[in-house]
Amino acid sequence: MDENLQPGAALEFVSGDRAMQLLQKAEPFRELMMYYDCALQEVRTKFEVLDREFSVRYKRNPVESIKTRIKQPLSICDKLKRKGLPISLEAVEQNIFDVAGVRIICSFIDDIYALADMFSKQDDITVINVKDYIANPKPNGYRSLHYIVEVPIFLSDEKRPMKVEVQFRTIAMDFWASLEHKLKYKKNISDSGPIVQELRACSEAIASVDERMQALHNRIEASE
Ligand code: GTP
Ligand code: MG
Repeated sequence: MDENLQPGAALEFVSGDRAMQLLQKAEPFRELMMYYDCALQEVRTKFEVLDREFSVRYKRNPVESIKTRIKQPLSICDKLKRKGLPISLEAVEQNIFDVAGVRIICSFIDDIYALADMFSKQDDITVINVKDYIANPKPNGYRSLHYIVEVPIFLSDEKRPMKVEVQFRTIAMDFWASLEHKLKYKKNISDSGPIVQELRACSEAIASVDERMQALHNRIEASE
């Protein structure tokens, strides 16, 4: 097997572990991950710019924090296998849209929609897909606004559109999602059991606090 993996070269005939070793070693894989990392930088900067503009214009910061991550090679391979796809760079770029992930933690629910709108209307951003788990929470209580977008990165000799997953949440939604993930990680919990019901109840309590905080914010703004 040629160790110099070329873009598009499928590795269906080697075991998952071996395929992963090859992917990690291969220069083109590292290059692709560097492109995703650059795309993350571009997106992060866009939100930092919006937050700075807000702080000067309206004297407040709608962005509480920004987290970014690149999906681990093992998770990329697992997802390709789950989808029945070959372990190749082309398959990654064409089918895995959350290799680059950005999480925007906002102060208030309205900030989420305002920021998502400003971001998605920028002329170098192409929206691929939107999932609004705030308007339509998942049955387990998960709430967030998800965008898959394409953002160009400018390299020495080309402009390359890269896909990035952007998740918008309030601090409260992030609190729930982080703890839910910790509680359920690698544990077998029945989808209809009391633990799941309790988690959903916590999500509803948190959502109601988010709404009250938003209402407080509106009242204070209106009285100024
Ligand atoms: P994946 O294949 O897992 O990426 O799911 P998907 O393609 O159906 O996308 P979806 O928008 O449902 O979820 C993408 C990401 O949102 C996940 O990778 C998590 O980061 C987050 N997420 C979705 N559902 C949950 C959930 O129930 N709990 C938590 N903690 N996070 C979630
Ligand atoms: Mg994912």
